[in-house]
Amino acid sequence: MITVKDLSKRYGKLQVLDHLNLEVETGETLVILGRSGVGKSVLLKHIIGITKPDIGIIDIDGVRITDLSGPELYQAVRHMGMLFQGSALFDSMNIYENTAFYLKQNGTPDGQKYAKSALDDLVAHALEMVGLEDTQNKMPSELSGGMKKRAALARLIVYRPSVILYDEPTTGLDPITAMTINELIVKTQHELKATSIVVTHDIICSLFVGDRLALHKDGKIAYIAEPEAFLQIDDPIIAFLRKTIHENPQTFRKEMEERGVNNQR
Ligand SMILES: Nc1ncnc2c1ncn2[C@@H]1O[C@H](COP(=O)(O)OP(=O)(O)OP(=O)(O)O)[C@@H](O)[C@H]1O
Ligand SMILES: [Mg+2]
Repeated sequence: MITVKDLSKRYGKLQVLDHLNLEVETGETLVILGRSGVGKSVLLKHIIGITKPDIGIIDIDGVRITDLSGPELYQAVRHMGMLFQGSALFDSMNIYENTAFYLKQNGTPDGQKYAKSALDDLVAHALEMVGLEDTQNKMPSELSGGMKKRAALARLIVYRPSVILYDEPTTGLDPITAMTINELIVKTQHELKATSIVVTHDIICSLFVGDRLALHKDGKIAYIAEPEAFLQIDDPIIAFLRKTIHENPQTFRKEMEERGVNNQR
């Protein structure tokens, strides 16, 4: 379970997180939606311990990670993984080495070094799971955007994290490739039973993967609810999202043009 209480973070004059509260149940997939720049990536970076809050606490499965630093923090977040917004593969390593990276770095759950044959099996299984079994010797620069996202996912799931944070897993992908990523997120949930947070702008992704949906707004989690109830909430951003699902975009555009609203969200 992830508990975030009273989390605040300011960058210069910008109060990005403002007494934010959030609870994510064990094994649940929570989707966080919100306008660009609202602080969704900043929130995920706090949850995985990369960024320290000004005030507030974060408990992960009962461990108060906001109190920890150095090796203690590293130890406490070892079972967590994050799919970063830009994939963040290591450019100088091939896909095998990228996928094996954390296993080599962290060793087995009881701290031993992995035997080469065990590493090979785990890497092969993870790459097979994301449909990239033929890319072990390729460099990241040789892969398409969608393949890079899948490789980054393989690098994450290979060490079976119990908490997974996905930062915009489908952004920049065509709708069909995006759907393969959505399916992979669900498949990963089934296989790992991890507690997950998915930050996305993609309402299709949200409804496909999310047990609950939340809206991040004005530095806080403004609403959190199961998908059907979430879509009924009376809020302009949610109304917009609802419209994009229920309406043919061409009808929607015509309506906007009739109202004299151009490119306005
Ligand atoms: N390290 C930092 N130093 C200063 N400002 C930062 C830092 N990290 C984030 N910010 C600011 O915090 C705000 C929120 O950034 P964040 O990346 O969390 O937005 P986001 O909700 O993830 O947006 P997007 O949907 O575009 O990814 C932005 O105004 C950003 O400029
Ligand atoms: Mg972001």
